[in-house]
Amino acid sequence: MAVICVELAGRSYEVRVGEGLLADVAGQCGAMLRKKRVPIVTDENVARLWRETVDASLTGAEFDPRWHVLPAGEGSKSWDQLSRTVEWLLAEEVERGDHILALGGGVIGDLTGFAAAILKRGCGFIQLPTTLLAQVDSSVGGKTAINTPAGKNLVGAFHQPSLVLADLNVLETLPGREMGAGYAEVIKYGILGDAGFFAWCEENGAKVMAGDKAAQEYAVTESVKAKARIVAEDERETTGARALLNLGHTFGHALEAETGFSDRLLHGEAVALGMVLAARYSARRGLISAADAQRVATAIAAAGLPNSLAALGLNASGTTLAGHMLHDKKMDAGTLPFVLLKGIGQAFLDRDVSLRDVADFLDEQL
Ligand code: NAD
Ligand code: GLY
Repeated sequence: MAVICVELAGRSYEVRVGEGLLADVAGQCGAMLRKKRVPIVTDENVARLWRETVDASLTGAEFDPRWHVLPAGEGSKSWDQLSRTVEWLLAEEVERGDHILALGGGVIGDLTGFAAAILKRGCGFIQLPTTLLAQVDSSVGGKTAINTPAGKNLVGAFHQPSLVLADLNVLETLPGREMGAGYAEVIKYGILGDAGFFAWCEENGAKVMAGDKAAQEYAVTESVKAKARIVAEDERETTGARALLNLGHTFGHALEAETGFSDRLLHGEAVALGMVLAARYSARRGLISAADAQRVATAIAAAGLPNSLAALGLNASGTTLAGHMLHDKKMDAGTLPFVLLKGIGQAFLDRDVSLRDVADFLDEQL
């Protein structure tokens, strides 16, 4: 098992990565579970596959697991499910010093984390991430949120978990497309800040996707280390360091908006293609070589992720796509910061990008 510490004054916590952590959840959470009753929020897919494992560990240690099972999918990050979850936690008499377990992907982690942030002005929670995306990104760093009709993740809070248990065994049941979406976030850490890790991904990406446990442990551990470093430096995304994690997200957001935030393009797939576009746009601006931009595109395609805007077959112009960017929540006083590349492993924030220029670039790519 690998253990990474997210260092935050007074609120540091461990991320443990390894096999069999859910089967030992009672032992892993230790003294954080102060009462017999243990509230657990999950979704129906994860409950079907992993509830028994968690139940066995908790009941074997004389705990009383209490389950709140939500419908699977992004739709559960809603006011309605938030209020149902909070009411359920109140009925379970959860107190401020207690810990709620969030067993699931980013949807469950974001919703449960937000419920924990507002319940009794903030109680504890433990992330048990069951998707690759949640293990390498959403369970670490304390961003919690729900969606509203006005947009994704518009209502939320920074609220750090007390512990994250990333059990590699859960990846065995994860559908291939969801693995790909998570892998996009893995390779992102290489592209934005670590050329050596990017090269490792070029060599080993196929092993990660094929279920090689050693490759998965390395990929998750290195990703978490990178995220932990960035979060420790810029927890609230005020200095710009954390904003680099948005590499590929501005282009990706426009693609998600154009495809109606639907299954046509998963978030991670949009980020993957968005990173290729960020690399190609950086090359167009003379910041990186065309060969480096192509390396990014090749590595993304090798993981089975989309790397060509033309191949998406969108019925939209560059202007339409750039128009979606105006509604990006990263808009700041009329400007939209873009994460671009000076090289592989050298991302930077450019606050001076012309959306007209981006629209022309996208027209070329379409
Ligand atoms: P998700 O939680 O919807 O999970 C994807 C699908 O996989 C769901 O159908 C789920 O039921 C299923 N699933 C989960 N674990 C499984 C397993 N082990 N086996 C089989 N099926 C399983 O989606 P996600 O991709 O994990 O997360 C996406 C969400 O994360 C978005 O809402 C996004 O906004 C959020 N996010 C948050 C952060 C953050 O920093 N808080 C970062 C990135 C993404
Ligand atoms: N996923 C982006 C962040 O945590 O800041």
